[in-house]
Amino acid sequence: MGTMVLGDLLDEAVLMLRSADARQDAEELAARVLGVESTGLDPRRDVDGRSVRRLRDLVGRRADGVPLGHLIGRTVFAGLELLVGPGVFVPRVHSELVLAAGLESLGDAAGPTVVDLCAGSGAIGLALAHARPDARVHAVDFDPVAADFARRNAARRAALGDTEVSVHEGVAGRAGALTGLAGEADLVLANPPFMPDAADVPDEFGRYQPRQAVFGGADGLRVVRQVVEAAAGLLRPGGTLVVEHGHLHGATVPALLRESGCFAEVSCRPDHEGWPLYSTAVRTGTDAPSS
Ligand SMILES: C[S@@+](CC[C@H](N)C(=O)[O-])C[C@H]1O[C@@H](n2cnc3c(N)ncnc32)[C@H](O)[C@@H]1O
Repeated sequence: MGTMVLGDLLDEAVLMLRSADARQDAEELAARVLGVESTGLDPRRDVDGRSVRRLRDLVGRRADGVPLGHLIGRTVFAGLELLVGPGVFVPRVHSELVLAAGLESLGDAAGPTVVDLCAGSGAIGLALAHARPDARVHAVDFDPVAADFARRNAARRAALGDTEVSVHEGVAGRAGALTGLAGEADLVLANPPFMPDAADVPDEFGRYQPRQAVFGGADGLRVVRQVVEAAAGLLRPGGTLVVEHGHLHGATVPALLRESGCFAEVSCRPDHEGWPLYSTAVRTGTDAPSS
């Protein structure tokens, strides 16, 4: 296979990818292969045969559903570049709405304490720490691979001047013991796995994202229940829980929150297209959750 012009290769890749983000994905993959920033790609440049083969291989894997972040080793969430790779969930842009709701709930109160449950790469907690340098942020994930990515991302962000996020490896249900923050948190943020085990999801989520990051038991709510219970234990009265749950649970998660007897002001909020995405709730008192 001989040399090709980059512009032709990118056009070919877009045809293969056929997604709304095809051009952007093709450029990111080309930048990775050529060792340049995607903003610095010159479509008139020649690409040698070895790089043509490498790019076509990556484009084929992306077309098969492998997340872009797993192919290039990084992603951007809320403007922050994060390390990701096989074995860790690649954050979705939708979750920036969870972050925004959490930031809004904090208002101007100085030095808030925040816990990110089911933190994965640390995306939400790290973005919170970036936006609020006065916050003490704890991130919890039970998966050693995810916790390792979160730790490395926390160290990179700290090196760039952000307040360091503490990463804890353990189940969401034990977050109180892990962080030592029972009854002290001002905000709990969570993007737990919420798809029912038998749900038919795109290959990107069903085959390539880690299973424990996507599927949450027969009804999808196994970890969400842990999150509700853990948040009831972590939050001070008046503190806020923001939990992502997707469109399937627009009624069930608010019901769970109300039935716990620990939350008021329960509200389900939509994504940019109007589908239920996450719920917010305010901790009412100091009673233990009724599980
Ligand atoms: C959908 S991913 C979200 C990751 C990250 N918050 C984000 O938005 O990109 C869910 C994460 O929850 C973790 N997880 C699943 N069950 C858990 C549990 N019981 N306790 C703690 N973490 C859990 C998975 O390892 C995965 O990293």
